[in-house]
This record gives sequence, C-alpha cells and structure tokens, in this order.
Amino acid sequence: MIDPHKTTVTIIGTGYVGLTTAVLFAQAGFKTYALDIDEGRLDSIRSGKSFFYEEGLDPLINESVNNGSLIPTNSYGVCIPESQFVFSCVGTPDKPDGSTNLDFIFQAAMSALDNMNAESVYVQKSTVPVGTGRKIEKLFLDAKKTIRYVSNPEFLREGSALGDSLYGDRMVFGGDNKEAVKAVRQLYEVTLGKRSEIMSLARLSVINDVETRYIETSLESAELIKVTANAFLALKISFANSIAKLADQTNADILEVMDAVGADKRIGGAFLNAGRGYGGGCFPKDVSGLISSAAKHGVDLAIMTAVSDVNASMPKYIANKLLHEFGSLGHKKIAVLGLSFKTGTSDARRSPGVALANILAHEGGLVKVFDPQANEEAASDLRREILLTDSIDEAIKGCDAVCIATDWNEFKEYNLETYAQLTRKCVFVDCMNVFDAKKVRSTGMKYIGVGRR
Ligand code: UDX
Repeated sequence: MIDPHKTTVTIIGTGYVGLTTAVLFAQAGFKTYALDIDEGRLDSIRSGKSFFYEEGLDPLINESVNNGSLIPTNSYGVCIPESQFVFSCVGTPDKPDGSTNLDFIFQAAMSALDNMNAESVYVQKSTVPVGTGRKIEKLFLDAKKTIRYVSNPEFLREGSALGDSLYGDRMVFGGDNKEAVKAVRQLYEVTLGKRSEIMSLARLSVINDVETRYIETSLESAELIKVTANAFLALKISFANSIAKLADQTNADILEVMDAVGADKRIGGAFLNAGRGYGGGCFPKDVSGLISSAAKHGVDLAIMTAVSDVNASMPKYIANKLLHEFGSLGHKKIAVLGLSFKTGTSDARRSPGVALANILAHEGGLVKVFDPQANEEAASDLRREILLTDSIDEAIKGCDAVCIATDWNEFKEYNLETYAQLTRKCVFVDCMNVFDAKKVRSTGMKYIGVGRR
C-alpha cells in the first residue's frame, strides 16, 4: 500500500472538487499542494477557510494548513516536480454554443507537463467530454514524456461534498496503465480508511455501513460514466417536472405519483422531486456538453435536448402560476426566498431562484429576495430593480406572494403563521414542493405548488 508520508500530491484548481479533494488527501497524511492562480482563493485557504460555503470544510482546511500537510501555492515550479500524483480539478465551463470549453484543461496539462517527471501520474478529475484524455496523452507523448494518465471523475455534490467523497457509492478509475490506475486507487483507499476521523474533525455525522465500490474501466468509459450519470439524474428531474405539469391539469398530486413510481426498485425514488428545475455548476453544462460532444460524433441526443428544454421552462412555468393568480404582476410585491441553486451552498450559478426572480421582475413585479448564504454570489445575476434583503422578515414584509425557491431549513422551519402575518396572507408558492399544503392553507395563505393537488 502507498505510504502517505513518502507521497506528494498536487491538486490543480481549488474549486469545490479540487479543494475538497486536496483537504481529504492532506487529512490522510499526504503532503498536498493546492495550486491555483487566484491569489484571493489562496489567501483564503492560507487563513484556514474556503472561499465558498461548504459544511465541514473549514475545520479541515484550518487543521491541514496549520499542520503543514496542505500547502497553498501559485507556482507549478514549486509543487509539480516533487509530486508523484498531479490532479487536474480545473473548471470546464460551457461555451455559448453549449460545448465544453477545455482551455483550462489544456492549459493545466501543458503547465504541469513542463515540470512533471516521467514517473508521475496525471489524474483528470474535471468533467471532460469523452476523448479528451487521449488528446492529453498525445500532448505528453509529443513532448517525449512518459507520464501516465488516469481518468478519475468526481461525483460529489455541493452541500454534501465531504460525505459524498468519503462515502460515495462508487469510485471510477480509467486508463491503459493498470499500475497507475492501481496507485491512484490506493490514494483513495488510504484516505477512506480515515473517513470516520475526518468526518468527526469536520463536525459532521459519521456514516455507517457504506461500502464504496472501486470500478476500473477504460479511459473513454470513465470519461463517459461521469457525464452519463449527471445526464441521467437531470433526465429524472425533467421527467418528474413534465409529469408534474400533467398533474397540474388533472387531480393528481406529483408527490403521491412519484412516491409510488419511485417505490419500484428498478426506478428508484431519488431525483424525482418536481419543482423549479435543476441549476448549478454541473447539470446544465454537463447536459449541454453531452449533447454537443455526441453531435461531434454524429449522434443526435434528442432526449437530452428535451431534458434541457423542460428544465429551462420551469421558472417561467412557476411565474405563470402567479400571473394566472393575479392577472398581472404589475406592482405586486413578491418575495423570492432562495438564490442558491440548492440548499447547503452559497453557489448561485444557473440558479432557478435567480431565474424566477428575474422573470417576476421583468413581468412588473416588485421583487425582494433573500438567501442565507448566496446573496453575494447571486447579486450580479439579478436584475437591477430587484431588492436584496438581509432576512426573511425583511424580504416578505407586506408581500402579495412569497416564492420558496430553495429548500433551506431556515425557510422550512420559519413559522408558517409568521409568513401569513407579515404578508397579510399572501399567495405561498412552494417551488420545491417541500411544504405541507394543508398546514400552509390552515394559516389563511393560498398554497401553490408544482404538480400538487
Ligand atoms: C451534481 C451531481 O449530483 C453530482 O454527483 C456531480 O458530481 C455534480 O453534479 P450538484 O450539482 O452539487 O451535484 O447538486 P445536486 O444535489 O445533484 O442537485 C442539482 C440540482 O438539481 C439542484 O438545483 C437541485 O435542487 C435539483 N434537484 C435535485 C431537483 O430539482 N430535483 C431533484 O429531485 C433533485
């Protein structure tokens, strides 16, 4: 088994995936460099903190920086030559045409290449279109370097990054060089061997009885597994949302429907929650990236185009419910609570709550918004006339409608009577179907869900 005290790892890119991975390897005892060109991010790590909100991460960063196992740096020349493993965790944003922008991927590989020694392993954790790894291998070969390449896609979710990384259902390792694949796998085996200690230090509940499956595949399969998994989850959400629209036109209730549908083990209940649709830094770009990469290979993934279209329709679909309710939104005071793309994160990228607020404001509504973590990250995506507030009370006071766009506990646990009192019995729009409709109605508010009876 690999010896952590004789092994150095560099993680290129300190976003959600990179920083989480770096911290975990550091906690397992590997000397771990967190490499980034963004000085602001590095300063934040140096001070023992993440630049984004993720539960449990800060205590781990703090401890690892203090004990010297996690070293933030901006210099390839410092960390790469002494690293046996170099992980690429850089961003893969989408281009305006939906295809994946691989500029950072190739820049990172080229910069690492100059400094890597022949024995090292280059590990790709970023989500890349199938075929990318072979191109990077060719770059290495052209430079006459025998660096081994392994694809090790990441499946963590924001908001539960540590738990997902340490207790995931599976880990995937793809590559031609089986020794390199085995070595990367061992890094994780050592790390997962310490998972209870790490969770305790992060002040998170230790999870029991989870066995992580280690899966070794070809390079191309590993690349395709990642995007296919995300595409399938997105498909489940858009499917549930399509059926929710039908439920709205009938007397069916989407919660009852999907509860029973998901009880079939062949289908499974996860990711069938209908509502305002998916957002974030992964699903939207992974779906469009998959469509585009398939098209380049002459394959028309019409099913994924439909998934994307249904998702894009959801914020407007919810806004239309209010339009139908009020006739016009002109001068209607509306609060949107929840700007992060989901609970537990400050990430507001492609957030359905932001999209909804913008549509309501565009329709003439006087919109106030609040999020317990994402106000700052959402601010630049909000229309100028939208008022950012600092509390639920401030956002909802005097409103004609309140839309709960993210299922933060703060919103779910807030007293329903107070929602009713401060708004003078508003229309209560449960954009994620997380409230008990009867209880909402019992306060005198009108309840609107997505596909709810
Ligand atoms: C996702 C994948 O789950 C993860 O495995 C991958 O590594 C990265 O992409 P993430 O984007 O962090 O993770 O969030 P996730 O919890 O999957 O939620 C994505 C979006 O779907 C959120 O906006 C969420 O609110 C929405 N969602 C999720 C639904 O609308 N309905 C559901 O049933 C589930």
